Amino acid sequence: MTAQYVIVGSGIVGLYTTYCLINDAKVSSSKLTVMAEYLPGDESINYTSPWAGGNFSCITPNDADTLRFDKLTYTHLAIIQAKLGGPKCGLDTKPSSEYWDFYPGDEKINSLKSYLKDLVIVPKDQLPVGTVFGIKYTTWDFNCPLFLANFKEYFESIGVTFIKKKLTHISQAYLPKTKVVFNCTGIGSFSLSGVKDSKVYPTRGQVVVVRAPHIQENRMRWGEDYATYIIPRPYSGNQLVLGGFLQKDNWTGDTFGDQTKNILKRTTELMPEILDRPLEILRVAAGLRPSRQGGPRIEVERVENKLLVHNYGASGYGYQAGFGMSHKAVGLYIKEKAILARF
Ligand SMILES: Cc1cc2nc3c(=O)[nH]c(=O)nc-3n(C[C@H](O)[C@H](O)[C@H](O)COP(=O)(O)OP(=O)(O)OC[C@H]3O[C@@H](n4cnc5c(N)ncnc54)[C@H](O)[C@@H]3O)c2cc1C
Ligand SMILES: *[C@@H]1O[C@H](CO)[C@@H](O)[C@H](O)[C@H]1NC(C)=O
Ligand SMILES: *[C@@H]1O[C@H](CO)[C@@H](O)[C@H](O)[C@H]1NC(C)=O
Ligand SMILES: *[C@@H]1O[C@H](CO)[C@@H](O)[C@H](O)[C@H]1NC(C)=O
Ligand SMILES: *[C@@H]1O[C@H](CO)[C@@H](O)[C@H](O)[C@H]1NC(C)=O
Repeated sequence: MTAQYVIVGSGIVGLYTTYCLINDAKVSSSKLTVMAEYLPGDESINYTSPWAGGNFSCITPNDADTLRFDKLTYTHLAIIQAKLGGPKCGLDTKPSSEYWDFYPGDEKINSLKSYLKDLVIVPKDQLPVGTVFGIKYTTWDFNCPLFLANFKEYFESIGVTFIKKKLTHISQAYLPKTKVVFNCTGIGSFSLSGVKDSKVYPTRGQVVVVRAPHIQENRMRWGEDYATYIIPRPYSGNQLVLGGFLQKDNWTGDTFGDQTKNILKRTTELMPEILDRPLEILRVAAGLRPSRQGGPRIEVERVENKLLVHNYGASGYGYQAGFGMSHKAVGLYIKEKAILARF
């Protein structure tokens, strides 16, 4: 272990970044160390990745960068899935329908048309009451905790080191031989000393997990100020994730009974078949999406003669856009390294 490269953060963004360092920058796995307070298998309100429903959907903003990150991730996931041993790793495809109370915009729809598998626009007479636009396509669903654990296991099997450690200052990430640090600290970037990023804020979500072997497809509805979604979790013993909430600037990891009721009302209206079987609630959970004013921060900085590459602020789309974000972060690193090599 030489720890020439340190990735701080072991959420989905840190793991995608590790993947891109190996596959894009061709760094040898034995030179990589992932350092984080929480590792796959841990649970904490300060570790967002295990709480995600984990689908690919239309949550992302319409800016060109994010549309590109989505596309890169969607089209690359099959390769990651194969490397991790197929769908049992906790990543599988499923049919999905999404409906909107407003038209989502040509930019988004044209981008989706260029890559989504089996995409069809739902005819107007088949739209749920109150919605104006809908699509059906084949989506990716993650079993988030299982996928994180398998991604880590895969990296360890090829020689990446994982260290469990809470940093109180960014300087602690630089081990004796470290040349570059990747900052993938998610919501942690708000409080970690160095330069606290006050643009980071949580978007709290709550989900209800039920057992529903009879539901094998995704369905979502997007309103101006709410999102309702239904996501089967692959290889989980028939868990179905029901959501959700998008509460800006609310830090609590507590769950609320009125939100559970509200989620059950909205999801069973959108998919009445859920009630074809007695409702069995397995768990209610809350998570904090690491949002950031102006979007994610993907930037390279020089710190003395070393590099610091930021890659955080994935908000509600770390699984579905995180590969694209990490590809960009590692690309910036490769460019900067080439510039430094000229001196
Ligand atoms: C209810 C809910 C549903 C969601 N659904 C989806 C979905 O369907 N699809 C999708 O794409 N996204 C979804 N998301 C969003 C997704 O979960 C996030 O975008 C993603 O998990 C962010 O990953 P991350 O790696 O940036 O952060 P995190 O997973 O929070 O990881 C941060 C890492 O940094 C470490 N860290 C932070 N500070 C320090 C420190 N000081 N010292 C050491 N280590 C530190 C942590 O320990 C952790 O390992 C959802 C989120 C929620 C809450
Ligand atoms: C989460 O992080 C915040 C900010 O550092 C801290 O105040 C809080 O105690 C942490 N919560 C837990 C459960 O660790
Ligand atoms: C489904 O995807 C959207 C967009 O990624 C996300 O906001 C939502 O939380 C996801 N659903 C679940 C249950 O995670
Ligand atoms: C990550 O970036 C944030 C915001 O600039 C900063 O507070 C934090 O110290 C950085 N962490 C690491 C490990 O570089
Ligand atoms: C966070 O959300 C919960 C549930 O809606 C609410 O009861 C609580 O007051 C909110 N907290 C803050 C600080 O807004």
